[in-house]
Order: sequence, then structure tokens, then C-alpha cells
Amino acid sequence: MRLIVLGATSTIAAETARLYAADGATILLVGRDQDRLQQTAADLKIRGAERVETAICDLAAPEDAQQQLADFAARIGGMDHVLLAYGILGDQGAAENNLIAAEEILRVNFNSAAAWSLAAANMLERQGRGSLVVIGSVAGDRGRRANFIYGAAKAGLAALVEGIAHRFADKGPRAVLIKPGPTVTPMTEGMNRSGALWATPQQVAKIVYSRAFKGGPVAYAPGFWRVIMLVIRNLPSFVFNRMEI
Ligand SMILES: NC(=O)c1ccc[n+]([C@@H]2O[C@H](COP(=O)([O-])OP(=O)(O)OC[C@H]3O[C@@H](n4cnc5c(N)ncnc54)[C@H](OP(=O)(O)O)[C@@H]3O)[C@@H](O)[C@H]2O)c1
Repeated sequence: MRLIVLGATSTIAAETARLYAADGATILLVGRDQDRLQQTAADLKIRGAERVETAICDLAAPEDAQQQLADFAARIGGMDHVLLAYGILGDQGAAENNLIAAEEILRVNFNSAAAWSLAAANMLERQGRGSLVVIGSVAGDRGRRANFIYGAAKAGLAALVEGIAHRFADKGPRAVLIKPGPTVTPMTEGMNRSGALWATPQQVAKIVYSRAFKGGPVAYAPGFWRVIMLVIRNLPSFVFNRMEI
């Protein structure tokens, strides 16, 4: 098993990589903080990874995602699974008035992620096997005032990955979009993180890992978010507009 992690400094990604490591995978960690990548690499080796490599890359600005991904795969002798995990929440309030900040949220979470996903899809289709696993968000299921720019990027990513899964039908490879609910990671630092709806990165990682191997093209993490989002999506706007969510 050879895994490429795009955004390996993500807490959810690092937890997921631990599950691959326990199975003896060879892993390439891609991110932009060499020290943290090295720390994660050391951790994964202790946990059983066959081999761990690191690559520095600002993933939001791929020059040629297709060539770069091919180069990443060559570093570890090929690619079986690719996990796309990087992202930013951004500051919704600031981004509404500063369109450069809004564009940054869209560029990081959608444009660049779409480029990597399309590059991965081509590579997986050529080899006729493997998995593309992309982390989206429940925020993409219905736009709400608190974070609809981030949500719009994740909604776009959801449509893209679902489309890739459709393209792959009966061809061998898989594509799956994971939609986590609120999770205790640095991305949500400063929020009130008490309450039963908050997940740990370990809980989300288990779902990411298992859905990389089997299941449909969309997975909520934890699974109860499928029901919550079904209700939220179907609320009439006169009810939804009164809610502070
Ligand atoms: N936490 C949640 O509540 C939650 C809920 C739903 C979905 N998600 C999604 O889950 C994924 C993982 O997030 P997380 O919760 O694990 O948060 P996290 O620990 O804060 O990880 C996000 C990572 O993205 C990396 N990143 C951002 N821009 C990058 C770039 N241009 N190039 C390379 N790396 C970049 C950051 O690296 P640096 O440290 O270098 O900035 C950071 O390590 C994200 O896609 C997020 O949108 C999270």
C-alpha cells in the first residue's frame, strides 16, 4: 500500500496516516512545514510504516498538479491511495468585505483541491485501481451565514468528487468524499468545542480510512451527520433563517 497525503500536517490526515502505518504502508507526506512533516514521519515509522518520505509543497498553488503528483508517486514507487486533507476555514466576516480573502478561501479549498483531484483521477484511471479520498465538510451541504464562503468551496469540491466517482463507476478506482462535522483540531481552536456533536480527529480518521477501501462516494463523519444534514437541507428557509447556526 502506497499512500500520498496532500496536507499531511492536518490533524485528521496525521491520524488517518497512523492507521495506514499500522498496516505497514509506504507513505509520502506532503505539506509546507518541514519540521512538522518530519515529526509525523517519525511517529508513523514507530507505528509500523514500511517507509515514510516527505515533500514540501504549497498545495494551494500547484504549477502543474499532474506532473507534481506523478513526481510524488515516483518518490514512493507508485500511488495506491491519495488523501487530500489540507484546507483553511478562513474568516467569513473579513472575507465578505475583503474579496482577496474570499478568493483565498476558494482557491485553497476548491480551485487547488480540484486540480489535485483531477490529476489524481487521471492517474488512478490510467492504472485502473486505487482510491482518491477527499475531505470536504458538512458545511458544503447548505450555505449558512457563519461560513458560506468556505461552505461554497466544499460544496464545489463535493460535486467534483462525486463526479469523479461517477466517472470511475465500473472502471476499478474509487473516489470518496468525506464530510466531517465539527472536529477538535487546530482548525476549530477558539470555538466552543463542548457538546455531543464534536468529534475527535481519531473518530473521523477511522471513517476516512475505512471508506478509502469500501462504501459509497460520500461518507459523513461521524455517520449521524447524514441524518442531521438531511434535516437541515430540507428545513424551509423561513425556519432556517431564524436559526443561529
Ligand atoms: N476540524 C473540523 O471541524 C473540520 C470539519 C469539517 C471539515 N474539515 C476539513 O478537514 C480537513 C483537515 O482539517 P483539520 O481539521 O485536520 O485541520 P488542521 O489540523 O488545521 O489541518 C489543516 C491543514 O491544512 C494545511 N494547509 C492549509 N493550506 C495549505 C497549503 N496551501 N499547502 C499545504 N498545506 C496547507 C495546514 O497546514 P499549515 O499548518 O502549514 O497551515 C494544516 O495542517 C480540511 O480540509 C478541513 O476543511 C475540518
